[in-house]
Amino acid sequence: MTTTASTAVRKPIELTGHLFDSLTVSKALDTIESLGGDFELKAIDIGHSKKAFSNLKLDVIAPDEITLRNIIEALEPYVAKVPVVFEQVGSVEVKTSQTKYPLGKDDAHPSILMSPPDYFEVAYAINPWMQGVAPVDVELAKKQWQDLYNAIENAGAKMYTLPPVKGLPDLVFTANCAFVYGDQAVTAHYRHAERQGEEPYGQQWFKDHGYQVTALPDHVHFEGSGDALIWKDRVFSGYKMRSDIAAHGFLSNASGLPILSLELNDPKFYHVDVCFCPLTGDYLIWYPEAFDEYGRSVIEANVPADKRIAVTTDEANQFVCNAVSVGKTVIFNEAPEKPLTRVKGELEARGFSVVTVNMSEFLKAGGSAKCLTVRLDH
Ligand code: ARG
Repeated sequence: MTTTASTAVRKPIELTGHLFDSLTVSKALDTIESLGGDFELKAIDIGHSKKAFSNLKLDVIAPDEITLRNIIEALEPYVAKVPVVFEQVGSVEVKTSQTKYPLGKDDAHPSILMSPPDYFEVAYAINPWMQGVAPVDVELAKKQWQDLYNAIENAGAKMYTLPPVKGLPDLVFTANCAFVYGDQAVTAHYRHAERQGEEPYGQQWFKDHGYQVTALPDHVHFEGSGDALIWKDRVFSGYKMRSDIAAHGFLSNASGLPILSLELNDPKFYHVDVCFCPLTGDYLIWYPEAFDEYGRSVIEANVPADKRIAVTTDEANQFVCNAVSVGKTVIFNEAPEKPLTRVKGELEARGFSVVTVNMSEFLKAGGSAKCLTVRLDH
């Protein structure tokens, strides 16, 4: 793109973070060009270790002020804010007694937030699973939710609850309310108006519990840890069906972690947590067909082959990737008439014990065990 020197306007900006491994640079530069602008690189300072940040200075050039303003606004998630990095040196960092959030990652005793299903129902259809389903049996849903809660607690987790709210049936799916890392919570801005009413409740809970909350601007959709999962020291983040790729810059800024962006195209696997599930010991359950070739290659390049447990379409359709991991226990949905013997065997062969729960009522809404939880310690 060319801009005439006489009328063009420009503004210097700076990008800081794990710019190259998270593809931030190419996403930011694509954003400039797609909005009718151009850029001139001024300086590049590349981080020389995995943890070091890179810094890039550039001028954004646009044909007029309005275009420039639009571009700068769209670049907001990529623009330098000094990223917060939580590094644990030696033992757990000691904070004041006012701290209400769990500190430090504890795989054996993770902290998990759930929200009771008092007002759960399928009242609208925003994913294919919700179309034409039989009504939810509320009493059965309450029993199934409690079975899951007990299974997670018995496996060693510390439990937290978010109070249910009448008129917000999908609030039970706490996975979506935020992405959490250290004391940072990047809260949801839902794609569908039907769920946007949940946003203030999630934000309030994280504020009340001492988190630094990042709420996203109106044009950036993001569906919490349903679309952003930490595997080892990096975040695998889904976009397109529900979350926007523009959210990934905010995740990187909040966590200081590299973000690997995975495009989701299958309407049945609309969140990354229904096709990708990190487990203790850097294992992974995943459904390769939910990803495009590029997404698959990103996962294969990062997660060693002996750590990846791939599942079939039939298994994925039973939400086996939507599992809760507590230490060496893996908890997922299993209908009595459809035993998941093969996957259980794969997990047991790697030293996991499997606990299954029947989540039939939640499957009607397109969610299962993991969707009903969000992990608070990292
Ligand atoms: N009915 C909900 C929706 O379509 C289900 C959310 C499932 N959550 C998840 N993390 N996959 O948004």
